[in-house]
Amino acid sequence: MSEGKLTSTGLEFFDAEHSADVVNARTAPETSARLREIMSVFINHIHAAVRETRLTSEEWMTGIEFLTKTGQMCSDWRQEFILLSDVLGISMLVDAMDHYRPTGSTENTVLGPFYVTGAPRCENGANICLDGKGEPLVVAGRVVDNDGKPVAGATLDVWATNDDGFYDVQQKGVQPEHNLRGVFTTDAEGQYWFRTVKPRFYPIPDDGTVGKLLTALGRHPNRAAHLHFIVKAPGFDTVVTHIFTPDCRYLAEDAVFGVKQSLIADFQKIDDPAEAERLEFTAPFWKVEWNFVLARCEDVGGNQRIPHE
Ligand code: BEZ
Ligand code: FE
Repeated sequence: MSEGKLTSTGLEFFDAEHSADVVNARTAPETSARLREIMSVFINHIHAAVRETRLTSEEWMTGIEFLTKTGQMCSDWRQEFILLSDVLGISMLVDAMDHYRPTGSTENTVLGPFYVTGAPRCENGANICLDGKGEPLVVAGRVVDNDGKPVAGATLDVWATNDDGFYDVQQKGVQPEHNLRGVFTTDAEGQYWFRTVKPRFYPIPDDGTVGKLLTALGRHPNRAAHLHFIVKAPGFDTVVTHIFTPDCRYLAEDAVFGVKQSLIADFQKIDDPAEAERLEFTAPFWKVEWNFVLARCEDVGGNQRIPHE
């Protein structure tokens, strides 16, 4: 029920003190309950923020111009609004609330804008680094369920930047197509393995409005070094995740808040020329062993499983 001032005719006019109530009172009775809830909470909070900061008309116009330019930067291959959501921590918050999984399951983190469908299907052991740059790395492990039983036939869609810190799609014509991308399938024991290069930190695209905002806030645009994975298997909840290197200086200040303790892996430096030769590497090389734990679809839930405040 609105607490706005009623006129003698029963009409409600705008009034700064009860502004959100007046706006919310306009929502039609037949509006879906969920849309009504979301919009009224957002309207309440935005009006409260405007009031609390005593926002000036000039500042409001700066905000409008920022959002306008953010929209204008969006195209089929650039999504500046998702980037904005990422740097404000909103992507991670929504994901955290919407992905309840049993303890021990591999955790999600940000998808990011550089995933592409249709990466080549690869045999286990394939080397996805096609430009020969970087320190060689072998990644091996298993996909298992919450009881530790192997998940055979799971797919692992992998992508990463090259050693210059760019994804192939950011450097079309410079990097080989599908450089550092591949889709692997687990064997009967749930095992997978592939060769690549050790990931390094890199900046998120910072030549747009989000980059300007980060600069204004005194923030850097760097992501902690990581490999991306989407791990899928029939009957299991799909995991969108990363493996982080433990030695990256941006681990505690990832630009999009994507780091979780459980996703930091142990990367070992191996100085074994014979093993290097077997892998068609030169010593020393890096090795990381990593298991993914998938939760069954019936054991997961969205934010209805997380108690409301
Ligand atoms: C990425 O890891 O590819 C990424 C994630 C969020 C924003 C930009 C890039
Ligand atoms: Fe990335």
